[in-house]
Amino acid sequence: MGSLQGLALLVSLLVCGLSAWSAPAGVAAETPLEAFEGWMRRNGKSYKNVTERLYRLGVFRKNLKYVEEFLHGRPRSYTIGLNSFADLTNAEFRAIYSRPMENRTRATAFRHAGVTPPSSVDWRQKGAVNAVKNQGQCGSCWSFSAVASIEGINQITTGNLLSLSEQELIDCDYSNSGCDGGFVDYAFQFVVSNGGITTEANYPYYGLQYNCDYTALSSNAVSILGYEDVPRCDEQSLMKAVAIQPVSVAIEASGSDFQLYTGGIYNGPCGTNLDHAVNIVGYGTDDSTGTDYWIVRNSWGATWGDQGYILMAKDVSDPQGTCGIALQPSYPIMN
Ligand SMILES: *[C@@H]1O[C@H](CO)[C@@H](O)[C@H](O)[C@H]1NC(C)=O
Ligand SMILES: *[C@@H]1O[C@H](CO)[C@@H](O)[C@H](O)[C@H]1NC(C)=O
Repeated sequence: MGSLQGLALLVSLLVCGLSAWSAPAGVAAETPLEAFEGWMRRNGKSYKNVTERLYRLGVFRKNLKYVEEFLHGRPRSYTIGLNSFADLTNAEFRAIYSRPMENRTRATAFRHAGVTPPSSVDWRQKGAVNAVKNQGQCGSCWSFSAVASIEGINQITTGNLLSLSEQELIDCDYSNSGCDGGFVDYAFQFVVSNGGITTEANYPYYGLQYNCDYTALSSNAVSILGYEDVPRCDEQSLMKAVAIQPVSVAIEASGSDFQLYTGGIYNGPCGTNLDHAVNIVGYGTDDSTGTDYWIVRNSWGATWGDQGYILMAKDVSDPQGTCGIALQPSYPIMN
C-alpha cells in the first residue's frame, strides 16, 4: 500500500471510528495500526488531533520494527517491548527524562563498611518500599530517588511506611532545579536543613514546578540526621549498604533499550554518563543463569519495565557498574 493510500485509509478510519474495522479474513497477523490501537487502549493514550496521531503512529512503527529486530537478534539476558514509551523517539525520551549529572566524588563516612551482606535482599518484601510512582514529564527523578530512600530508612527505623512529598523538594529545594534536574545528595541536605519532609498527601505531586507551599513545608512528617555516600566503583560496598537500606543511585538511562525495557537482567548497552536517579531496593541471583542483579526501582510508573522495576547486572567487570550504577550511590541516615 502506498503511503498516501495508507494515510487516506487511516484518516477515514479515524473519521468512521475504528471499532467498526476488522482485519480482512485470512489475515491473521496484527497490522501495525492494530498494534498501535491496542497499545493506545492499554496505555490510556489519546492524541490532540489527527496530525499528532499520525506522527505517533509513525514513531510507534519504528519502535515496533526496532523491537522485532531485537527479538530476532542474538539472545540477550533482558527483553524490550512496546511499553508506555513506545510512541516516543529516543531523542524525545531523552529530552523528557535525561538530565546530565556531574560525575562527582564526595568523601564521607561509610557506616555500613563492617556489614556482612546476605546473598539476597528485597526490601519490597519487608514492607520498606512504596508502590512505584510516576514522575510524569518532569525531570524530577532526583526527588523521587531521595524520597524513596527516606521512605525506606523511615520504615526500617520506625516500622511505618509513609509516602513522602517529591513536590516539596521540586518547589522548595532551591539547591536543585525542579523539573530541570537535581542531585539526590542536595535533596538529602535540604531535608536535613528543613528539619524534615512532609507527606505526599499533605503536599501532592503535580509534575510541574510551582511556588513553594510554606505551610506544607513546615509540616514535617519524617526527619533525617544526614546522609553518606557509598565508596564509588565498589559494588561490594554497595551490596553492604543495600543490605541495610534502599540506596539512591545515578545511572545512564537514556538508551533505546533502556527506554523500551520490559524484563530480565539489563547489562547494557549503556555508558556511564549519569543522567537519571533511581533506587536499589535489593539484589539477588538468577537461579538458571547464576547472574547477579540489582533490583532497581524507577519512577516512570508501573507500565514501564518490569512493573516499574528493572533488574541490572551486578558485580560486572567494569568497576563503575552497569550504566555507572556504582559511581554515585548515597543513603540518608536517621540515627
Ligand atoms: C496538532 O497537535 C499538535 C501537538 O499538540 C500541534 O502542534 C499542532 O499544531 C496541531 N495541529 C493541528 C492541525 O491542529
Ligand atoms: C567517572 O569517574 C570515574 C572515576 O571516579 C571514572 O573512572 C569515569 O571515567 C568517569 N566517567 C565519566 C563518564 O566521566
